[in-house]
Amino acid sequence: MISSPFEILDTKRQGGQLTEQEVLAVVDGAARGSWDDPQLAALLMAVAIRGLDDQETAWLTEGMLASGDQWNLRADVPQLIDKHSTGGVGDKVSLIFSPLLAACGLPVAMLTGRALGHTGGTADKLESIPGVRLELDREQSVRLLNEIGIVMGVATEEIAPADRKLYALRDRTGTVSSIPLVVGSILSKKLATGASAIVFDVKVGSGAFFPEYSDAELLCRKLVETSQRLGVAASGLLTDMSQPLGRWVGHSAEVLETFECLEGRGNPRLMEVVFRLAEEAAGLVGSKISRTDLENVIASGEARSRFVAWAVAQGACDSFLEEPDFALAPVEAVIEADRHGLMSRVNTKRIGELMATASRSSAGVIDPSVSLLYSVELGDKVEPGQEIARLYLRSADAERVSALSKCFVIDTDGQAPPLVYETVS
Ligand code: URA
Repeated sequence: MISSPFEILDTKRQGGQLTEQEVLAVVDGAARGSWDDPQLAALLMAVAIRGLDDQETAWLTEGMLASGDQWNLRADVPQLIDKHSTGGVGDKVSLIFSPLLAACGLPVAMLTGRALGHTGGTADKLESIPGVRLELDREQSVRLLNEIGIVMGVATEEIAPADRKLYALRDRTGTVSSIPLVVGSILSKKLATGASAIVFDVKVGSGAFFPEYSDAELLCRKLVETSQRLGVAASGLLTDMSQPLGRWVGHSAEVLETFECLEGRGNPRLMEVVFRLAEEAAGLVGSKISRTDLENVIASGEARSRFVAWAVAQGACDSFLEEPDFALAPVEAVIEADRHGLMSRVNTKRIGELMATASRSSAGVIDPSVSLLYSVELGDKVEPGQEIARLYLRSADAERVSALSKCFVIDTDGQAPPLVYETVS
């Protein structure tokens, strides 16, 4: 007998386990509109409070995946790798990771996301390259993978429509941070491309969606386990987001930093995260790529050439890529240390929020030239008057500069955090 929405809601409200048919009824209700918004919102809240077990989470993921197109790219492209980051501030890892692995012979396909809350979106960063287009279909993706070994796009409207509906309601009902809902949402889109393996970069610390270690670790484990349960090789790294990653925060500036990294001038912390994720991903598809191999494709210029080839294939202007340069936003402000001490803490989430609002017009249009240069790192010794950060804003904004300066705390204690806390496989 098919349960009614009322019965399903009642079961979950009381903390009971839903059957596969019941979970799929919810997904179907979201995708086809047979459940109205109050019913879906009530279900989301019941799940946020009562949770979903591993089996229910897998059914939810499978249901949302099946609600839309599935590209199954691995049928045409073997050893295909995908990567997912839970998001952070200054996180441009995907832009460097993809050409590095492609240059080593491993194809990478990623449907990237837009900015979410305080975190920057890889899709928005890629679109700051003049001409780049991210709307691709399966056929174009297979061609790009065969020719260049990289595809970076955005999910089409037809991928996981049930997630689109539920995500919008989660945003309005304060249920965004429910781990089973996050897992279902991320994986329903990730699995739709159909890579052979996914490596997850789950961020921990003040700029992460889940700043607390225990939450981030649980999310990482659930992403890995659910992917494996659904037949995809997966592992995850818990990596540090207690300060901006690398030197720059800002769309165009992060693309320029990507070029620096691919030319062998990358920030060591950022490069370590990229290398560790690339090694992990290679291992998942049975490849023996070593650190030396990754360093060699940077030294030879092959990784940089791959990135340029990818950008051109997805529409970028050749003239820009010959000598990449962007004008940074015109109003410069320097944040200086006001005392001796150690860089002790960074309110990375607040930096993300302040930079996100600085770069957006009231209509939501992103100005990619708004940027922040992070000039020190946690644990560094600082002297009064030393530059901590440099801002590039569209117009003078003393209030914002003051709010940003409060994000950097100098104290008598402070140390460099680990970069990779743990691997979950
Ligand atoms: N990204 C998603 O796609 N969904 C979530 O729930 C969180 C991050």
